[in-house]
Amino acid sequence: MSEPGDTVAAVDAEALQREALSAIEAASTVTELDELRVHYLGRRSDLKQALRRVRDRETGMALNAAREAIEEAVAERQAQLERVELDRKLTEDVVDVTLPGEQLPLGHLHPITQVRRMVEDAFLGLGYEIRDDREVETVEYNFDKLAFAPTHPSRSNRDTFFFDDTQVLRTETSPSQIHILEEKEPPIYMVSLGRVYRRDAITATRYPIFHQFEGLAVDRGLTLADLKGTLLHVMRELYGPERRVRFRTHFFPFTEPSIEPDVSCGICGGEGCRTCKYSGWIEMGGAGMVDPRVFENVGLDPEEWSGFAFGCGLERAAQLRHDIPDIRLLWEGDLRVLRQF
Ligand code: PHE
Repeated sequence: MSEPGDTVAAVDAEALQREALSAIEAASTVTELDELRVHYLGRRSDLKQALRRVRDRETGMALNAAREAIEEAVAERQAQLERVELDRKLTEDVVDVTLPGEQLPLGHLHPITQVRRMVEDAFLGLGYEIRDDREVETVEYNFDKLAFAPTHPSRSNRDTFFFDDTQVLRTETSPSQIHILEEKEPPIYMVSLGRVYRRDAITATRYPIFHQFEGLAVDRGLTLADLKGTLLHVMRELYGPERRVRFRTHFFPFTEPSIEPDVSCGICGGEGCRTCKYSGWIEMGGAGMVDPRVFENVGLDPEEWSGFAFGCGLERAAQLRHDIPDIRLLWEGDLRVLRQF
């Protein structure tokens, strides 16, 4: 059947197909199968070369039928071999999903943040609103509108960090009282929490940066009894019913009368130790009834409105809750200390 000019013997399509199919059937790996594919179907294969030389329709159809059958057989065997390979992997490669993963170290809230949130929760429970104010404050809001006398020692640059004549790092959270009184009409029940700054030497009980929470209630007919009840409730929330609370009379420029609440020392149980300066009591801050001058400074009628205010240190609260003997431990960031809380 060869024509003149042919250099290669004619291909027997049926014989080629039979040979290819049995070889493909016998292939046991994907690589082996790939080699067979190149051998029978590649550009240099007998089949492809024969197809290129085809002159008559019949030979062409026979060769194409063989090509199609071989292609199909390769695809089928390929799928079979891949399935076998996957089964092998699934049975032989063992992954123990119950083994522990890599441990990522997890942090937790600093004790100051924890106690801050407790205070917020205690007051939210009483229906107070929580606020946050500026730490760089003006002399006007830090002192003047709070009725500090021109000669008050806190106005000295030996007690307070001044930027210039008109701006300071706030020495207390009390300026929040003025801000909220100027922002909205009473009735007001708010607690403001944040950092305050004083030029104090660092000791077991003092640090030049610390946190306070400031409360202000302004309404009609509030009395000292409301202040006492509120403080007692919050102290019990924070320290538990076994702590004792006492009030001493005091002076603050923006309250009248003024008091200082104390809580019994939890480190020595009231016996006296370094933290309570051997008195058995720890000062919690200051409080009192809003001074009429403060109401006048924000344009409210002191005959119509009454109120109480209080300010306490968060470091002190954290120390009391956890019996931490030295305030410096809260600022050093020593993980051996912090991990305990
Ligand atoms: N601001 C006062 C202080 O720093 C505490 C205080 C707050 C007193 C509110 C009375 C009323 O010590």
